[in-house]
Amino acid sequence: ATGLNAIAKSKGKLYFGSATDNPELTDTAYVKILSDNTMFGQITPGNSMKWDATEPARGQFSWTGADQIANLAKGNGQLLRGHNCVWYSQLPSWVSSGNFDSATLTSIIQTHCSTLVGRYKGEVYSWDVVNEPFNDDGTWRTDVFYNTLGTNYVNIALQAARTADPAAKLYINDYNIEGPSAKTTSMMNLVKSLKAANVPLDGIGLQGHFIVGELPQGIEDNLRAFTALGVEVAITELDIRMTLPSTAALLAQQSKDYQTVISACQAVEGCVGVTIWDYTDKYSWVPQTFSGQGAACPWDQNLVEKPAFQGIVNGF
Ligand code: XIL
Repeated sequence: ATGLNAIAKSKGKLYFGSATDNPELTDTAYVKILSDNTMFGQITPGNSMKWDATEPARGQFSWTGADQIANLAKGNGQLLRGHNCVWYSQLPSWVSSGNFDSATLTSIIQTHCSTLVGRYKGEVYSWDVVNEPFNDDGTWRTDVFYNTLGTNYVNIALQAARTADPAAKLYINDYNIEGPSAKTTSMMNLVKSLKAANVPLDGIGLQGHFIVGELPQGIEDNLRAFTALGVEVAITELDIRMTLPSTAALLAQQSKDYQTVISACQAVEGCVGVTIWDYTDKYSWVPQTFSGQGAACPWDQNLVEKPAFQGIVNGF
C-alpha cells in the first residue's frame, strides 16, 4: 500500500486524514487526491461547520457548506471529524456581543450544539465540541462563554453534544498542548475534573501546528499521559511551517519532523489517528495567518508530494 490511510490502518490506527474547505472543491485535481480513501480515510471541514457558518443569526441555521463536506465524506467512504461547536473565534457577533445572562447563553449553547451535532447524527466519528479553551499560559480564555458561565460552559456543550449524538466521540481540541507546557497541565487538569464529575468526554485533540525544526520535546510521552487519564487522543490539525522561501534543507528537516509526529502517535495505542490541516500548500491557511511563512503541508502548490510525504510513511 502507498496510500497514507492504508498504511495507517495496516499499522493499527483508525485513520489518516486531511482538512478541506468548500471553495477548494471546484478543483478537480485536488478533489481526486482528497477523495482517495486509501490516501485519506477521514476529512475535517476547515471552516464550514463553525458557528459563523452554521448559525449566523440566532436560530437561523445554514447547512450548505457543512452538508457538502459531510456528503463528500459519505460518498468517499471516509470518517468525518466535526469541527467545531464552541470556539471564541469565527463566532458571530450576535453571540459574542449579545450581553446574554447565564441562563440565556446556556440555552444558546445547548441549541447550537444539539442542532449542529444532531444534524450529522450517525455520520461523525468525533466532534471538537470545545475548541481552544486555554491561553498559552494555561489560564482560561476570557471569551464570552467563560466570562458569562465560567468553566461550566464546557460541561454544557459536552452534555448537549452527547445527547444529540450518543455515538460520536466528544473532544476538546487545542494547540500548544503537544508537549509539556502550562497549557498542557491545564488541559490535563480539565480532563481529570470532567472525568471525576462524569461529564461526557472521549478525547483530546492536539492540533499540531508546528514550525520546522522546533517541535516540542516529548510528544509521545505527552500523548500517553493524556491517554492515562481515560481519553483517546488524536493529532487533529497537523502542519509544519517554515519561513519562506523553502530550501532543500528545510524540506528535509520538515520530513523528519513529520516523521517524528507520526511515530509519536504510532507508538501510543490510544492515539487513534492523524489529520493534516489540508494536504497541499495550495490551500494551506498558513501564509494568510503567519506572515512570511508557508510550505507547511506534505504536498506542494502543484499537488506534488514533498519529502514530508515519505516522512509520514516512515513514521508509521
Ligand atoms: C483556520 C482555517 O483553516 C482558515 O481558513 C480560517 O481562516 C481560520 O481558521 N485552529 C483551528 C482551526 O482550530 O479552526 C483553524 O482553521 C486553524 C487553527
